[in-house]
Amino acid sequence: MFPLRRNRRLRTNETMRSLIRETNITPNDFLVPLFVVEGKGVKEEIASMPNYYRYSLDLLKNEVKTLWSLGLKSVLLFVKVPDNLKDNKGTEALNPNGLMQRAIKTIKDTCPEMLIMTDVALDPYSSVGHDGIVKNGMIINDESAEVLAKMALTHAQAGADFVAPSDMNDGRTLKIRELLEQESFINTGIMAYTAKYASSFYGPFRDALDSAPVDMTDVPKDKKTYQMDFGNRIEAVRETLIDIEEGADIVMVKPGLSYLDILREIKNEVDVPVAVYQVSGEYAMIKAAAEKGWLNHDQIMLETTMAFKRAGADIITSYFAKDVVKIING
Ligand code: PBG
Repeated sequence: MFPLRRNRRLRTNETMRSLIRETNITPNDFLVPLFVVEGKGVKEEIASMPNYYRYSLDLLKNEVKTLWSLGLKSVLLFVKVPDNLKDNKGTEALNPNGLMQRAIKTIKDTCPEMLIMTDVALDPYSSVGHDGIVKNGMIINDESAEVLAKMALTHAQAGADFVAPSDMNDGRTLKIRELLEQESFINTGIMAYTAKYASSFYGPFRDALDSAPVDMTDVPKDKKTYQMDFGNRIEAVRETLIDIEEGADIVMVKPGLSYLDILREIKNEVDVPVAVYQVSGEYAMIKAAAEKGWLNHDQIMLETTMAFKRAGADIITSYFAKDVVKIING
């Protein structure tokens, strides 16, 4: 008999296909990144991220309400820090009344059930644009981890549900967990960026926050001494297992599309939820190609989202979250 099996019977029409689809996307899959700036009435489009904006706190309230009404119930906060508040030690990151800390309170006041995660890294606060303190031409590890723990504590005190260290210094998850426990924030969780690669896909994000490493004669302009080498796979598993031992409740792979193998590998290895980050450069690439009419924006967006979930993501961090749920909500 030819052919032995007719697999095409399962693909006859959309009803049939949707009946047997292994992976489905819902609004619950998403974590929405939000960029916050000082000021009033500010909604600025990010040049390299079309249709993505930085909001001042007053307008952030409306945005959060919109997200909630779409069924998007978790946000990941980033702040753009004014230049005059930046220094090598990230002092402003610890200001209990800083922009991040106020943003957390504003969202909790506006939409108390919204789950708030916060980025914990020094780069937006650093005058040199690194995720740690720079001394003698090096990004020093242990002192940076101490500052990150203190920074995370101020986020917890302001009301953050989860803190998300995105720096890749060693031991920072442990330092954060210890300090949170010591200060009785036993329910504040940690989503650790455990497999974060030194990637050129972060370019547009660094425009969004004006956080790119600056030119210095004695310090490398890239982040390769702390973020991971993209030739490595086993190292990602090692990094992730260590972070779980140190107290990470959720682990993350970043970037997304070029690292789906890593995502699946980690999903198979660990018993905690795994997040993925479809980063700014991935967003920008799709936008640019769609603008030129070379790719179908919505179809590519849905296909990449599906790819993350199929590869094992329990949480998808994406600048497309709103656009995707508008389509799936109909
Ligand atoms: C900060 C941080 C970065 C991103 C998230 N947190 C930039 C970096 O590590 O250089 C990138 C996110 C994106 O590109 O969308 N440490």
